[in-house]
Amino acid sequence: MQGNIVKIGLLGCGNVGQGVVKGIELHSNKILCKLGVTLVVSKALVQDISKERTIGGVVLTQQPQDILDDPEIEVIVEVMGGEYPAYFYLKEALAKGKHVVTANKLLLALHGTELQAIARRKGTCLLYEGSVLGGIPILRTIQHGLAGDQVKRIRGILNGTTNYILTQMVESGKGYEEALQEAQEAGYAESDPTMDVTGLDAACKLVILCRECFELEIPLEEVEIKGIQGLTGEEVAEQKRQGRVPKLVAEASVVEKSSSGPEKRREGIIAKVGVQWLSGEAILSHVSGVDNGLSLETQLAGELFWKGPGAGGLATGGAVLSDIVEIAKKVVIERSIGNAAR
Ligand code: HSE
Repeated sequence: MQGNIVKIGLLGCGNVGQGVVKGIELHSNKILCKLGVTLVVSKALVQDISKERTIGGVVLTQQPQDILDDPEIEVIVEVMGGEYPAYFYLKEALAKGKHVVTANKLLLALHGTELQAIARRKGTCLLYEGSVLGGIPILRTIQHGLAGDQVKRIRGILNGTTNYILTQMVESGKGYEEALQEAQEAGYAESDPTMDVTGLDAACKLVILCRECFELEIPLEEVEIKGIQGLTGEEVAEQKRQGRVPKLVAEASVVEKSSSGPEKRREGIIAKVGVQWLSGEAILSHVSGVDNGLSLETQLAGELFWKGPGAGGLATGGAVLSDIVEIAKKVVIERSIGNAAR
């Protein structure tokens, strides 16, 4: 039995893309039994076709149009990263009425509102669970689980690479450069780790979280960002003696901005990313290695906290797959309505 087949086109096929393929391989039976759907990754856009990958059965192409123009592909999964050309591809995919899943936090922080508006106009889905906190299913939790509550404050460790580097500096007494090199060798940090170490990656994720939690927009350039590059091994050792550890903390809350008079007050967001020295009492001080941690202060439930893998192909691939499954449910319902109407 195959049930309904839903074809997927991957834009990019690095760690996360391969994690998605692996996740489908591992869980196809469960998905088929629960939803009556067989997910098929039919094509993947790659830069280098000859590179070794664990994605048997997927047709590789260097031409984006092979995927974007394929009428059988209903779901486009963007895991290539970066602002361009991903922005153009996703705009085109949505305009063509395809559903889109992306884990691209930079793209979402800069163009998420515009892309979501196109998706709404076209009646398609734009989902992005994998863009924030890797394997921790936080966006759907905010959208559904907290639909009856209101988040007042966001505070979290949103970047796995820097958390790994900082943990190494504390636990092994390594200097910044040495810890960064180790993170690269372990496959956590990119060969160009600029987005991570400058705090930009965490800031993009914070912008997305603000949108979800506060339903307000903060432009990326308004987030105060300070990275971890200036940190020295000596400073870390001294603070450690005093019982404190460094963490790259991203935080945001809503403030009332007054313009000229009380009647002109409007809401805005204050958001920042930077190193904080935390004592053992702080819950975030216990989030180590590549893990991410997030604390949301909510009006009704009080403080809620999540911790788990914030990076990695399988963890993030699983989050991307959860979006694909959501879309597959919708596709199947639409098909059955279409069949009934015939
Ligand atoms: N470079 C990111 C991190 C990957 O280290 O957290 C996951 O978004």
